[in-house]
Amino acid sequence: MHLGRTTLSKFLIQELDGSAQSRHLAALLVDVASAVKAISAMTAKGALAGVLGSLETENVQGEVQKKLDVLSNTAFVNTFQLGGLAAGLASEEMDDPVTVQGKTEGRFLVIFDPLDGSSNIDVNVSVGSIFSVIAAPEGRPPQPQDYLNPGREQLAAGYAVYGPATMMVITVGKGTHGFTLDREVGNFILTHPNIQIPADTSEFAINTSNERFWEPPVQRYVAECKAGKTDVRGRDFNMRWIASMVAEVHRILMRGGIFMYPRDMKDPSKPGRLRLMYEANPMGMVVEQAGGLASTGRSRILDVQPDQIHQRIGVILGSRNEVERVERYHREYDTGEDKQYTSPLFKERSLYQ
Ligand code: AHG
Ligand code: MN
Ligand code: MN
Repeated sequence: MHLGRTTLSKFLIQELDGSAQSRHLAALLVDVASAVKAISAMTAKGALAGVLGSLETENVQGEVQKKLDVLSNTAFVNTFQLGGLAAGLASEEMDDPVTVQGKTEGRFLVIFDPLDGSSNIDVNVSVGSIFSVIAAPEGRPPQPQDYLNPGREQLAAGYAVYGPATMMVITVGKGTHGFTLDREVGNFILTHPNIQIPADTSEFAINTSNERFWEPPVQRYVAECKAGKTDVRGRDFNMRWIASMVAEVHRILMRGGIFMYPRDMKDPSKPGRLRLMYEANPMGMVVEQAGGLASTGRSRILDVQPDQIHQRIGVILGSRNEVERVERYHREYDTGEDKQYTSPLFKERSLYQ
């Protein structure tokens, strides 16, 4: 049966079963969409709305906050405070989770990165928002510990990308689907049903300025991609780096690729750049639901047991065959099977020995 144009609300009604939990989840995702519309309107106005630039404050991670980091966080918090479906919220821009005092008893905890890639905001390059939804504890207010579930327990996850078009890409565990904002009307329309990431790719994304801090298996993988036709890969690779995880993941969902922000030794107190709870986990679910893989290099991201809301983690995600290859390189390095990259010469230079 052809049902014509599908709005996000119509899609959610069709997609989720009729249980009370599903109906509430659908309503919560419609709330996410309204926060996204508010942020989309602000980012689209840019300098005209006076929203560019930095504040004098730092977030809990010691990063200087952009005005739009805080405004976007407020858009999410206000939407969920009014919506009554979330019992608690955790965000990159809030030191600790907050409990929502609503008229209705919220059933979900929402964890979000309100503005991802915010270093791009002042130069008018794509940014995004990332969100993850898990179940709230029943019959009592949420405690910080309640947020710390492995990513495989997410009920829904997704992101918005504020690019030439604003899009929302979501999963409720039944595939990954993309919606484009029809700005004049204010509706998200299903434009990319059932996104599939190609298993093979010749495009990689990594911040190569960190190369000397990477672990040997990542150095090996990237060296082979760069050698292209002249080495074991037998074909040339292309590279992209936008510095907005959302935009990189979106490109990978659209045409394949591998994205890496691996564990590195740049700052030994931080095991990676990206955050598990509001970057790696939701993107991991979105990517897996589109047929790709998301790994730390040594284990599946969605199986990592979190111990802190703001914890960082190495992230390698995208086209299945390439992520598997990077995992294999980690294994070969750890077991000493990889002779070249475990050679005494290499070890001398490696910061990991
Ligand atoms: P955020 O703006 O939420 O702090 O996240 C930025 C992240 C991610 O989007 C991106 O992949 C990465 O940081 C960029 O890091 P570099 O500055 O090292 O390129
Ligand atoms: Mn981010
Ligand atoms: Mn952010």
